[in-house]
Amino acid sequence: MRGIIFLLLVLLTIQMGHASEPDSAYIFAYSTTKNDNHNGLHFAWSLDKKQWQGIGQERTYLWSDYGRWGSQKKMFDPDLYRSSDGDWHCVWGLNDNDGVFAYASSGDLISWKSQSYPLVYPEGNLKSPLLSYDHKSGEYTIVWQSDKNTVGNYGVKTKDFKTFSTPQKTAYFDKKETVTLEGESLRGTIHKVEWAQIEKLLNADKLEELKQKLYSERPAEDTILFAGLKSVEGTLSLSEDKPRKISDLFMGVFFEDINYAADGGLYAELIQNRGFEYSSTDRKEWNSLSYWKKSANEVQLNIDSISPVHENNKHYLTMMAPKGQGVINEGFDGVPILAGEYYDVGIYARTKDQNTDYLIVQIIDSTGQVISEGKTRQVSNKWGQYEITLQTNVTMSNAQVLVMTENGTAVDLDMISMFPRNTFHNRKNGMRADIAQTIADMKPKFVRFPGGCVAHGDGLENIYHWKNTIGPLESRKGQRNLWGYHQSYGLGYYEYFQFCEDLGAAPVPVVAAGVPCQNSGHHGHPIGGQQCGIAMEDMDAYIQDILDLIEYANGDKHTTWGRKRAEAGHPEPFDLKYIGVGNEDLITDIFVERFTMIYKAIKQKYPNINVIGTSGPFYEGTDYVEGWKLADSLEIPLIDEHYYTSPGWFIHNQDFYDKYDRTKSKVYLGEYAAHISGRASTIETALAEALHLCNLERNGDVVAMTSYAPLLAKQGNTQWNPDLIYFDNISVKPTVGYYVQQLFGQNSGDEYLFSSLELVNSDIAVKRRIARSVVRDTKTGDLILKLVNLLPVEVRLKADFSPQQYQGGVVEAKVLTGNIQDRQAMPKTARLNMGNLILEPYSLSIIRLKAK
Ligand code: AHR
Repeated sequence: MRGIIFLLLVLLTIQMGHASEPDSAYIFAYSTTKNDNHNGLHFAWSLDKKQWQGIGQERTYLWSDYGRWGSQKKMFDPDLYRSSDGDWHCVWGLNDNDGVFAYASSGDLISWKSQSYPLVYPEGNLKSPLLSYDHKSGEYTIVWQSDKNTVGNYGVKTKDFKTFSTPQKTAYFDKKETVTLEGESLRGTIHKVEWAQIEKLLNADKLEELKQKLYSERPAEDTILFAGLKSVEGTLSLSEDKPRKISDLFMGVFFEDINYAADGGLYAELIQNRGFEYSSTDRKEWNSLSYWKKSANEVQLNIDSISPVHENNKHYLTMMAPKGQGVINEGFDGVPILAGEYYDVGIYARTKDQNTDYLIVQIIDSTGQVISEGKTRQVSNKWGQYEITLQTNVTMSNAQVLVMTENGTAVDLDMISMFPRNTFHNRKNGMRADIAQTIADMKPKFVRFPGGCVAHGDGLENIYHWKNTIGPLESRKGQRNLWGYHQSYGLGYYEYFQFCEDLGAAPVPVVAAGVPCQNSGHHGHPIGGQQCGIAMEDMDAYIQDILDLIEYANGDKHTTWGRKRAEAGHPEPFDLKYIGVGNEDLITDIFVERFTMIYKAIKQKYPNINVIGTSGPFYEGTDYVEGWKLADSLEIPLIDEHYYTSPGWFIHNQDFYDKYDRTKSKVYLGEYAAHISGRASTIETALAEALHLCNLERNGDVVAMTSYAPLLAKQGNTQWNPDLIYFDNISVKPTVGYYVQQLFGQNSGDEYLFSSLELVNSDIAVKRRIARSVVRDTKTGDLILKLVNLLPVEVRLKADFSPQQYQGGVVEAKVLTGNIQDRQAMPKTARLNMGNLILEPYSLSIIRLKAK
């Protein structure tokens, strides 16, 4: 009771205005064990250090970003210190194992600079760090407790939180205090601050609360919000303002090998683990024989690595099997076959000793029934490649492939491969035709590759190195895919560039900025734990690799790397103009140093290549701010922004890019999607994305490139949802979100025309659920209207553009509509009247008007 009266008095004091505000108050900084210590730094305040009031419902002002999502990113025992310049310095513990602490600083306790994770004590672990400052020496001291390997209390000194003294045994005095907040006893640090600081925190909390309220709005719940609403009427007219140029790369695709997008997906190889290189590094339960089995008990299968086909592809199979028996591959959830299709089989083989024999290859069904069979030429005792073609007369998603010798001779086998003859553009080692065609139907202007997190990898040793992905297939050095499987690199850089060419899309490769993924689980690197970077002495070689990639794409066929491209079958350059460096990394000193080196080297050698920088994984926050700062200082041509967020965010941030400075770097919105609980692609998410695309088109001068993410997912093998295109072994299942991308891609323009939309209904909530984009395709002269109605009622518009010499009356339109939760909707053709344009509830309508 006393507490409530006290609080009422305080609130009253505050309400009464500035004159009676206190000069100062106390702030309590703490973290909790809730949500497994993932909830970060909270504050409470007090006037007398006795009665405490939480700021927000334990609002988080600083999240810990160290390590993997889930098992890491925890905050233990934060300790704050305020330096004489007013800056706040925070250190906190990260886990029980690593000899590392976290550090961040802030001017106002609300916006925090980049976090760093100094690895000061590799000898043991580091817990409950405490921060103090010695005015005489100008040094900070961080002391901690250690209970692994070495038990005791240790400390280091630093002036800048970048270089540290050697750890010494030291005394440890816990300066944490206990505060009771809403009946809960909490440990943290107490600091006296000016009242304005408390006010700032309270305001930040209110602002955040308001934002969260808006962003959590769900069109699926709008029937309550708009209960009394009938239809909405209005007039759409073109304005006189000068049209705005839309970038010619506006819409592209983001390809990442996630969800079995490459092996088992777009890459048309049908044999899984063809090179016997799967291992427990890829997945705990895997080994070289995963997805292979004996056709009978008497078959002996062993893995060997002496004198392999290629040193990069160490393992091969040694098989001893009686006549008529052999080894069976189960494919990726089965081997799909289509009636009437040809399948090209290739196998590396050698017989044991001086024997010779023939290989028999059969496509069989699950009962062992033979569907198709072929025999190779005679196999000798030297490695050679043996090829045959099989034809099938049935369609089946789960056939298997059996390999045996004709006479039961012992053989070594490797790189057992089977491709449908019919690949996209009939490329050898090519792409699965139906998936590739679905991508092609989006008319992408560019293809980003190979990720995503796959580009920068899970730890330094997992960074994607393009040189491992080119050349003869048997020489490619596959590796663990951080999404929990194996990447063979059969779909490597050559195939990627070729695919871009077949699509008529620009290649946009992304390389790591010398640092691995910030969510890596691999720590303890001597130069900084997580986030670590490639050692400085190795950076020159790494930068050279990036320059070599550009030469591989663009160099003359007489250059070192251009020659390799020519040898692969493409003497002409691939015309690379863009390269991404980094993928939503933490913008730390380690990142900035390496990014800058790479950026300058590319700029110097290839001034015409446009480098794309990165600004973290969100639309705000430390990495966004620091990423943009770096972009400004280096004048990076483009910055890659990422955000997966709620439909409410898209609805309430329609002017996000209107505010961007046109003189600065352009934006590549490299990853975005509307996410709802359950993570499905529905009419709700798809229309939120369509609404955003309308706003992006309006800003197509500054938002030069966009790509939804991720692109592909094999059903039953997903690590991420939603994705744009799902598939199984024989069918492709585009989502509702796909059709939005397809409709925008097929109806792109190069000029944005400003328009005004006058609605009879003046409710802002109504207004925000209707979006439009009017663009012109100057090649055809067509005017293209994209109209989004995210309301549960019809919108009726007068949209007569005949004074501007465009088609009027009844016109053809493409309409994507359905129930708000619909996951199956597809565009339909409709006839709409421009004099009374009816936009169906929850719809995207695309109208293409011919110039008269
Ligand atoms: O698109 C899936 C993942 O999301 C990407 O790999 C990563 O960049 C982002 O966090």
